[in-house]
Amino acid sequence: MSSQNQSSVLHKFKGILFSTVSSEELLNSLDSFHAREDDVFLVSYPKSGTHWIAEVIENIPNARITLTSPIELGDMSKFEELKMYCKRRIIYIIRNPKDTAVSLFHYYRDNPNLPGIETWAAFLELFLRGDVVYGSWFDHILSWEEHKNDKNILIIFYEEMKKDPSENIKKITTFLGINVSEGEINKIAWKTSFSEMKNNAAKENCDPDHTVCALTSNRNLVFRKGAVGDWINYFTSKQKRVFDELFTEKMKHSELARHVED
Ligand code: A3P
Repeated sequence: MSSQNQSSVLHKFKGILFSTVSSEELLNSLDSFHAREDDVFLVSYPKSGTHWIAEVIENIPNARITLTSPIELGDMSKFEELKMYCKRRIIYIIRNPKDTAVSLFHYYRDNPNLPGIETWAAFLELFLRGDVVYGSWFDHILSWEEHKNDKNILIIFYEEMKKDPSENIKKITTFLGINVSEGEINKIAWKTSFSEMKNNAAKENCDPDHTVCALTSNRNLVFRKGAVGDWINYFTSKQKRVFDELFTEKMKHSELARHVED
C-alpha cells in the first residue's frame, strides 16, 4: 500500500489514524459530549467482536438499551474527556491480537472506507507499528489496564466467549442488571452464533446511525470466519517470533494480556 493511498482515506487525530467515518469534527465534538448516567459503552479495538456483543445486547429481552452510533477512538489515554465515561457502565471486549490483525487485514482489503493493502507482510508491519486505523492494539489494551478492576467495567475475552457463549452472555446480563432465564440465555447464544449472524447479515443492510454498522454499511464485510487461531494460516514462523517478542516486551506488566489466548 502506498503512503499516499493510506493518507487519502485515513487522517490522524491526536497521533492516531482514523477513517473518514470518524471525522475530525466528530472527534472534536467529544469535548462537549455528556454521557447519561444510564449509558452503556461498548468498547473494543476494531475486529475484536464488537458486532457480536452488540447483537447479544440487542437480543436481551427487556434490556431497554438502544444501540447508537459508534465513536471509535483508539488508545483511551489520548482522550481526556473519556475519563467521564468511567462513571458509566462499559463493556470492553478483547481478542487475541494475532487473530485481530488477520481480521483487520481482510477488512482493509474488503472495505472501501479503508486503504487498499497489497500483502499480509506489509499490513503486519503497519499493525506492529500501530500505524493502522485506531492505532496500536497494545496501547489500546494498556490504556484500559488501570480500569480493569473498576466496578463499572466488564471485560469479555473473545476466545472465552467462543468457548462458552452462554456463560459470557450471563456475565453481560448480570452486569447490566437484567434478569434473564437460562432458556433465554441459550436462545440468545443461538441467535448470536457466528452462522446465524453471518446468514442474517446477507439480509440486512444497516442504518448508518447504528452501532452495528461500524466503518461500513455493508454487514457482509464483518462476518468473515469468526474463528479462533486463524492467524496460524497467515503468520510465518519468523513473523510469529517477531510478534511474540514485541508482545512480551510491550505487555510485560499487563494482567489483561495474560488472559489472551493464542
Ligand atoms: P474475522 O474477520 O476473524 O472473521 P468487529 O465486530 O469488532 O468488527 O469484529 C469482527 C470480527 O468478529 C470478525 O472476525 C467476525 O467474523 C467476528 N465475529 C462477528 N460475529 C461473531 C460471532 N457471532 N461469533 C464469532 N465471531 C464473530
